[in-house]
This record gives sequence, C-alpha cells and structure tokens, in this order.
Amino acid sequence: MANILITGASRGIGKSIAEKLSNHNLFLTARNEEALKILNPCDYCICDLADDINTLVNFVKGKEINILINNAGEYIYKNVEELSFDEINRLVRINLEIPMLLASVCTPCMKEQKWGRIINIGSISGVMGEAFASVYSATKAGLIGFTKAAGLELAGHGITVNTINPGWVETDLGLESINESEFTLEETLQTIPQRRFVQPEEVASLVEYLISNEARGVTGQSINICAGLSVGI
Ligand SMILES: NC(=O)c1ccc[n+]([C@@H]2O[C@H](COP(=O)([O-])OP(=O)(O)OC[C@H]3O[C@@H](n4cnc5c(N)ncnc54)[C@H](OP(=O)(O)O)[C@@H]3O)[C@@H](O)[C@H]2O)c1
Repeated sequence: MANILITGASRGIGKSIAEKLSNHNLFLTARNEEALKILNPCDYCICDLADDINTLVNFVKGKEINILINNAGEYIYKNVEELSFDEINRLVRINLEIPMLLASVCTPCMKEQKWGRIINIGSISGVMGEAFASVYSATKAGLIGFTKAAGLELAGHGITVNTINPGWVETDLGLESINESEFTLEETLQTIPQRRFVQPEEVASLVEYLISNEARGVTGQSINICAGLSVGI
C-alpha cells in the first residue's frame, strides 16, 4: 500500500482517482471538506491553493508520500489583451508553481525509499495550444517541461514523473469552460474525433497504470487521453 497525495480530490478527475486508488492510504486536499470526508481518506487538508500553500506543505511533511498526484487546476477563458496580472499569477500559482513545489516537498521521501511516482494532470491545451486560454495553455505546457527534466533527474532513484494530458473531460471544469466559450456543447463535440467527452474514470485508469510496477519504464512522458483531439481534424 502506498501513501498517495491527491490535490483537487473533491470532485471531477481527482475524485475519480481517489475512488480508483481507495485501496491505498489516501491523503487528500481541496476546499470542500464534506466532499473529501466521504472518500474515507487517512487524512485530509482543507486549503485554498491560491493563498494558503503553507498549510498544505506542513500537512505533507511526515506523511511519507510516495505517490503524488498533482491534479487540482483552474481555467480562464479570456483574450490575451484582457488578462490582468492577478489572473495570470493565480493560474500560474495553482496550475504550475504548486505542482512543482509539492514535487519538491515529496521527493526526499521517495528518494529515501528508492521508489516513487509523480503524476501531473496537464491538458491537451498544453500540447496544442487553446485560443483564449493562453495562460492555461502556458501553465500546462510548463508541466510538460518540468516532467521531462524531473523525470531525467530522478530516473536513477526509482522515481517516475509523467504528465497526463486530457482532452475535454465531462467535469465541472470541462463543462464550465465550454459554457464560457463561444461554442455550444454540440459544436464542441463536433471538434472531437470520437464525438464524445472523456470520462474522469478513464483518466483515473491511466493513473492506476502509471503507478503500477508494469509502468516502471514510463518516465518523463506526456501522455494524451483526448478522444483523438491531438491528432487532427
Ligand atoms: N475537465 C476537462 O475538460 C479537463 C481537460 C484537461 C485537463 N483538465 C485538468 O484536470 C484537472 C482536474 O480538473 P477537473 O476537470 O476534474 O476540474 P473540477 O471538476 O473543476 O475539479 C477541480 C478540483 O480542483 C480543486 N481546486 C480548484 N481550485 C482550487 C483551489 N484554488 N484550491 C484548492 N483546490 C482547488 C477543486 O476542489 P474544491 O473546489 O473543493 O476546492 C476540485 O477538487 C485540472 O488540472 C484540469 O486543468 C481538465
């Protein structure tokens, strides 16, 4: 049984990952306490990643986390010229700085155990670029760069580092992003080769594979699960 930290576990993809990995010792974080409690974690930390990272860092210390799932993320749909410094800061902090900081905090224990898994939930927008989601795309592309470098650095320590890039997933974030855009749900579906949204459980199954012994050779990779979106139209 591993000690797993999952950020953004209260709903959507993070909740599915927590349910899929419920046979492990789960350490969960998000802002919604009730939603975390019902997942029966070993422990949980209520924290707003936008302004309260010390609470989470202190929570993680001493938990001997050997699997880190950096899942929590936010999205913003805006013209480049309308972005404020605060909006840019918030997204970069939540989507990129905190995943890197948590990897830094969790790595010493993984090195000691000569085994570990770091999985970042990126986005296909970080692979292809998404118009009107430039900061979001930049943060997710940043995760891919971090993954390659950290994967290389930690390869000799039995630690793998990978990023999963979902396409449209049927969650609050996915559906709200479409709502904010100029496209209807039906128009968005027509841009997806499989004409369907990825389900959170599909992402959770990929996470389950990546933490397994069978996946020990997969590191530094960025893996798309996007119903064909990245291939072309
Ligand atoms: N859905 C998609 O189409 C899609 C596509 C590509 C990539 N992704 C990525 O997948 C990951 C999960 O997204 P999702 O679709 O599952 O989103 P979601 O349904 O909106 O859930 C987001 C999770 O992150 C937590 N979170 C958000 N902001 C937070 C903050 N400031 N502080 C603490 N926790 C916060 C939320 O918890 P609380 O609200 O309880 O705090 C929630 O558990 C994200 O990184 C997202 O970018 C999603």
